[in-house]
Amino acid sequence: MSIDTSENQSSNPSAKDVSSHLSSLIDARLTRRGVLGGLAGAYGLAVTACQSESESESQSEAETDLTFDLSEFSDSTFDFKEISRGIDETHHISDGHQADILLRWGDPLFDDSPEFDPYAQTAEAQRKQFGYNNDFVGFIPLSEGRGLLCVNHEYTSTNLMLPEFDEDKGVTREESLVELAAHGGSIVEIVQNPNGQWRPVIGSKYNRRITGNTTPMEVSGPAVGHKRLQTKEDPSGRFVAGTLNNCAGGITPWGTYLMAEENFNGCFIGDLPDGHPEKENHTRYGVPAGWYDWGRYFDRYDISKSPNEPNRYGWIVEVDPMEPTSRPKKRTALGRFKHEGAETVIAPDGRLAIYMGDDQRFDYLYKFVSNQKVDLTNRAANSDLLDDGILYVAKFFEKGVLEWIALTYGQGPLTAENGFNSQAEVMIEARRAGDLLEATPMDRPEDVEPDPKTGRVWVMLTNNSRRKSGEVNPANPRAKNVSGHIIEITEPNGDFTSTVSEWDIIVRCGDPKDRSTTWNPNTSENGWFGSPDNCALDVNGRLWIATDGNDRTGAADGLWALDTDGSARGTGKAFFRVPIGAELCGPRFTDDGETLFLAVQHPGDGNDASFENPTTRWPDFKDNMPPRPAVMAIRNINGKIVGSG
Ligand code: FEO
Ligand code: CA
Ligand code: CA
Ligand code: CA
Repeated sequence: MSIDTSENQSSNPSAKDVSSHLSSLIDARLTRRGVLGGLAGAYGLAVTACQSESESESQSEAETDLTFDLSEFSDSTFDFKEISRGIDETHHISDGHQADILLRWGDPLFDDSPEFDPYAQTAEAQRKQFGYNNDFVGFIPLSEGRGLLCVNHEYTSTNLMLPEFDEDKGVTREESLVELAAHGGSIVEIVQNPNGQWRPVIGSKYNRRITGNTTPMEVSGPAVGHKRLQTKEDPSGRFVAGTLNNCAGGITPWGTYLMAEENFNGCFIGDLPDGHPEKENHTRYGVPAGWYDWGRYFDRYDISKSPNEPNRYGWIVEVDPMEPTSRPKKRTALGRFKHEGAETVIAPDGRLAIYMGDDQRFDYLYKFVSNQKVDLTNRAANSDLLDDGILYVAKFFEKGVLEWIALTYGQGPLTAENGFNSQAEVMIEARRAGDLLEATPMDRPEDVEPDPKTGRVWVMLTNNSRRKSGEVNPANPRAKNVSGHIIEITEPNGDFTSTVSEWDIIVRCGDPKDRSTTWNPNTSENGWFGSPDNCALDVNGRLWIATDGNDRTGAADGLWALDTDGSARGTGKAFFRVPIGAELCGPRFTDDGETLFLAVQHPGDGNDASFENPTTRWPDFKDNMPPRPAVMAIRNINGKIVGSG
């Protein structure tokens, strides 16, 4: 059986190799879908809201016209009281829940941390204080009511952080160092008071600041020591000081913290002459984007002076929070791209799978599978697990099937003929390898969350306003996709190592008045959203989604619950919203479901927003205090799990 591909995907040599496997999967899938469709019809359940994107638009519209009120059939698993859409200076949460500020930018973490003074900030002070723009939140329990919070500080909002900042003049050398110190991550011990409220333990032996430019790190895996990672400061290509643009991440089953280096291209200035060996590579990654002035003061951020430096970013960094002096490791076997996150799951055979998005319009979805098994009885046995495995990139076919194609040196087009001389180079230029393998260009893959209980994997695709009508493909079916969508991948029999999987689109996001959206009709006027970014599963395996860009619809970003099963599948429900200017990151539930950590990023931002004139002064609301990105702890005041009514 031949494989239909969308017009954006020319014939893929590897497709032939797996065609019979794919064909049988497609047959099985179509048969199953026929049965499901029959059942839905028998019970009067319209499935229009969550039908496959492989079905035609005309069919979709015809079925939408037949939709009727399904509320009597709804079996939503969420009974919390929904909040209303809107946007104002503060946050809002569902009734019956308490939202406490846990850690703000500038909060002290050590006994000798200076008090936060945004008018006289220094790099030395910032290195001892909670960083800026909290994104990923991980929680590693230590004992009842006590654990380590692992928080990424993705980037600095220069306009909001620095008093009297003049964009034309740029930042000073010291301000550059403040920005670099505010990047990276924080590991903070937190404890619960007898009343259930969480607080940071200042001076805990576990507390640690990881910074953008000072924390010593090792490179490991296939690219360690490679000449394309060597610089004047590090002729060995084995060590990097710092990590940058840490967006989302993950916590491994053995309790290490994965930091995803995302928009590192923005950290570099300078130019390379045409014909320079790194020119095309850097162009593929958008280097240099010149968002920061650091290269004016430090050669490493100027590619004309340090052309290999960008190759030392765009990795997943593994940190051991239990050993505060340990060196984080940049794990090059997981590929180099604009890593959004790195959520992990143990496959039935004991190997580890890590799902990762490359957050760029038209870039790809990846999965890493370790060669060795996870050892849950001996933590140290996993210390090099992430150095040895296979990185795959996703190619989506019509009929709800996808193939994971290995990025392995010497296989298919990944040879010297195409400029790949080793596995190291395949990893350094993972994007170009994906191009050659004809992976499916996606609408900005962000957080990807595997569910160990069901074998399903949830993929957030934020948006892609630049996709033209001639560029749609089955998994990215909308041109000018301003609101994004969410893909459900099903790994066969829960085998997360599988190289062939099934997929569907659970919802095309945006205002339901837009007929290209596919919400369950039970979704209320508050329950829909756009631009899904981060996500988390709660203690009952239910899906929660944080947005980045919903404010384009006229309402604040926030957290929504999304039903994934039964007649409620595809129903959104609004739980929390952020103050103006912010996006929502995190989210992370404790294992008992009683606390939800949320990260409010860049509050007070907006067109023309500045330190002096932010759009809000959340969370302190003091005239002389700028807005402060902060992590919040959410609890149910009735002692139930978060999200219960
Ligand atoms: Fe840092 Fe893709 O969000
Ligand atoms: Ca994100
Ligand atoms: Ca997540
Ligand atoms: Ca984001």
